[in-house]
Amino acid sequence: MSIQTAVRASPPIETANEFAADVIAGLSAKPKRLPPKYFYDLTGSGLFDRITQLPEYYPTRSELGLLHQHAPAIASLFPPAAALIEFGSGSSRKARILLRAAASVEAYVPVDISGDFLQQDAVQLRRDFPHLAILPVVADFTTMTEPPAEVAAKPRAGFFPGSTIGNFEPHEAAAFLRRAGRILGAGSVLVVGVDLAKAPDILYRAYNDSEGVTAKFNLNLLARINRELGANFNLAAFEHQAFYSAERHRIEMHLASTKRQKVRIGDTIIEFRAGETIHTENSYKHSIDSFQALAHGGGWSPLAAWTDGLFSVHALRMTAD
Ligand SMILES: C[S@@+](CC[C@H](N)C(=O)[O-])C[C@H]1O[C@@H](n2cnc3c(N)ncnc32)[C@H](O)[C@@H]1O
Repeated sequence: MSIQTAVRASPPIETANEFAADVIAGLSAKPKRLPPKYFYDLTGSGLFDRITQLPEYYPTRSELGLLHQHAPAIASLFPPAAALIEFGSGSSRKARILLRAAASVEAYVPVDISGDFLQQDAVQLRRDFPHLAILPVVADFTTMTEPPAEVAAKPRAGFFPGSTIGNFEPHEAAAFLRRAGRILGAGSVLVVGVDLAKAPDILYRAYNDSEGVTAKFNLNLLARINRELGANFNLAAFEHQAFYSAERHRIEMHLASTKRQKVRIGDTIIEFRAGETIHTENSYKHSIDSFQALAHGGGWSPLAAWTDGLFSVHALRMTAD
């Protein structure tokens, strides 16, 4: 079976029309904002991978360390002959650690909105794990409703690393956890990577790296709008901003207009004041307790939490239908 036919969309992900509608709606709102899921085209996913290798970006190093250290304990929570479903799999680097430790897992289902990147990853996964069924799904995990048919009869475990959960507003995070519970099934286990609140200067550096890769990642959103919607953003007239709001326990990422300007997207003209920003992402930071409380609200009970003081990995068991 070719990779093309093996990658499915369930349900169909956003069309160019939906992208355009979301962009116009977000840039017409006050304050202006754009949904972070649009960061991840092929270029954006590649840039995110570079972010994970930056010296300032501690979350990936920390989470990889925790997963290496605790993979046997985590794998022991998976039911026999399980399918492991990862939400927002990116390069699947972290799942590989769990898949190597969990000999009884039979299928791996990487779910990601970034279809081209997912296809590339699936090719390599099939080479590295020839005994596993690799069943990539191109989907928006905020609207996905069920697992692929091939694993519907298998017990399922879930994986949501990278503190992607921190990109949701807290009420959206609880809604996602409920959705994941329905996809994974009663009594299932979900492993979630969650970044922890810490000294603001460490957080600041993680999102303002000296090589400017995070700035490129942020600005790629405007480049993508230019590429796919024929807009005329002048990238040199916008700058990356990221700061920690201690009050809201979150890093906020913005793109700030360096001058008063007008931008055309199709037939729509968007006006910017000098200094006006587009809010592109939040990254909420938690304590172990605050995340466990959030998980409870989403229908999950804490089974275990591992931390190195910077980052945390949680194992949860589904308690609600
Ligand atoms: C912060 S990265 C984490 C990647 C990887 N799991 C890791 O831990 O390094 C977020 C990932 O989720 C994907 N993603 C973001 N929003 C999504 C959505 N709404 N539906 C599906 N995938 C999404 C992105 O394409 C990206 O691969």
